[in-house]
Amino acid sequence: MNANVVPGVLVELELKTGEILRIVGPARVEVLDGSLLAVGAIYRRGESFVVHSLRSYGIKALEDTKIKATLGEGASVEEPSEDEEVIDDWINVAKIIREDPRKIKKVIIIGPVESGKTTLTAFIANYMMERGSKVCVIEGDVGQEDLAVPGTLSLALPLRKFLWLRELKCERIRFVGCISPSHVQCQLHVLTALRELIEEAENLECDTIVVNTDGWVSSKQALDFKVSIIRWLRPTHVVTLSNDIYDIMRAVLGHNFFTVVLKARAPMKVKERSREERRRLRIEAYRKYFSAGSKTVSLRLGEVGLIGSCVLGGQRISIDEAITLCPSLQPVRDKVLFTSLYGQYLNVVLSDGLHSITCGESADHSYIINAVRKDDLSGYLVGVLDEEGKDVALGIIEDVDFNNNVIKVRTPYSGKISALVVGRIKLSPNYEDTGRVLRCGI
Ligand SMILES: Nc1ncnc2c1ncn2[C@@H]1O[C@H](COP(=O)(O)OP(=O)(O)OP(=O)(O)O)[C@@H](O)[C@H]1O
Ligand SMILES: [Mg+2]
Repeated sequence: MNANVVPGVLVELELKTGEILRIVGPARVEVLDGSLLAVGAIYRRGESFVVHSLRSYGIKALEDTKIKATLGEGASVEEPSEDEEVIDDWINVAKIIREDPRKIKKVIIIGPVESGKTTLTAFIANYMMERGSKVCVIEGDVGQEDLAVPGTLSLALPLRKFLWLRELKCERIRFVGCISPSHVQCQLHVLTALRELIEEAENLECDTIVVNTDGWVSSKQALDFKVSIIRWLRPTHVVTLSNDIYDIMRAVLGHNFFTVVLKARAPMKVKERSREERRRLRIEAYRKYFSAGSKTVSLRLGEVGLIGSCVLGGQRISIDEAITLCPSLQPVRDKVLFTSLYGQYLNVVLSDGLHSITCGESADHSYIINAVRKDDLSGYLVGVLDEEGKDVALGIIEDVDFNNNVIKVRTPYSGKISALVVGRIKLSPNYEDTGRVLRCGI
C-alpha cells in the first residue's frame, strides 16, 4: 500500500499481489485496475462494492491492483498486522469444501456472537458461485434481520456476488415466532424450519447450501442444540469459528461420521454493533418488510386457522359457562368480549381495563384464569399460511373485532390465507419488537 489514509476523503491506492487491507465502512471501493477478493468474491477492473457503516471486511489483491476508495464518516482503510486478517484461512476452508468429491455441499457455520458467521456464510457462497455452483443461502440465525426479520428463518438464491446477506432477496421464509433459541420450544421450531428450508434448497437444485446459525454456543444446552442441528440436517461440512467449538464438534462427531468438521479463524478486529445499532437494524428490517406494498386484510374468526394462539385458538364457551367456572367474572360480564378454554387456561378477553381476576373459593380449580384486554391482542407478528398451509409471508395483527367477528392483519401477501401462526414477538407502531407478550399468546 502506498498511502496512509485519512477518513472522509477519496483515495487511490496501489496494492501488490497478495497484499491484504481492511476496509472499515462506510466506504465505496472501486477497482481501477487488476482484481481483488472481498468476502470470497472476485471484483475486477471497473467493478465496485459498498461497505456499510456497520461493517468491515478484509480484501486481498489477486494481482497488482489499483483501487479508489471513497470513505464516509468513521471509515478507514487499515493495514492489518501480520496474521491479523483471516482471509487466507477462509480461502483454505472454502477450497476444502469445494474440493470435497461429494456433489452436493451442505455447509453449516457455527460460532459465537460477532465471530464472523454471517460474513463466512457470504464468503463460502461467493467462492462457490464464482466457481459455477448454484448456491442457496439459509439464514438460520433466528435473532437476525439480515435476510428477513427476526423470528423467521429464510432462504436466498444469490445470483451475483454480494458482501452482506442484506443485499439478497428472501425467496422462502419460515416463521418461527421466537428470537431466543435458548427456549426449548423455539429450538423445536428452528430445527423443523431448517429442515424444511434445506428441502426447499434441494428442490431448487442448489448444489451448495450454506446455513448460518445463531451465536448461542457457550452453554451445554447451546451445544446440545447445535449438535441436534447437525444430527438432523446431516451437513457435509461444519465450519466452526472458535477452537473450543471445533474441539467439541470433533469429539462429538468422531472421524467416521459423514460430516467433516473444519476450523476457520474469527476476524480479530471487527466492527461491533452496539445494542442500539442492533435495535435500529431490526426496526429498519421490519419497516422494510411491511412498507413494501402491505395492506390490511380482514379474516373471519372461526374460519381462519390460529396456530399458537391459546386465547383465540381455544375452545369457545359461553359467558355463562365461564362464570360457572369462575364466579368473579359476574360483576364484569358486560365487559367480556370472548371466552375460551385451552388446556389449563380459562381465557377471557375484556373490552378495557385489566382486572386482576381471582376466581375465588367456589371456582373450578382445574383452570387458571387468563384475563387479557382486547388491545393487548394487537401488534403480534404472525406467520401467514397459504391454502396449502405453507409459509408465504408475515403479518401484523392490527385488531381483533369481536363485534364483527374478524381479525385484521396487515401483510404484503394478497392470496388466500388459510391460517395465521402466532409467536412471541410483538411490535409497536414504530416497529420496536420489545413489546411484552401475553403468557399464553393471543
Ligand atoms: N475479515 C474481516 N476483517 C474485519 N472485520 C470483519 C471481517 N469479517 C467480518 N468482519 C466484521 O465483523 C463484524 C461481525 O461479523 P459478522 O456479522 O459476520 O459476525 P456474526 O458472527 O454473524 O455476528 P452476529 O453474532 O451479530 O450475527 C461485522 O462488522 C463484519 O463486517
Ligand atoms: Mg450474523
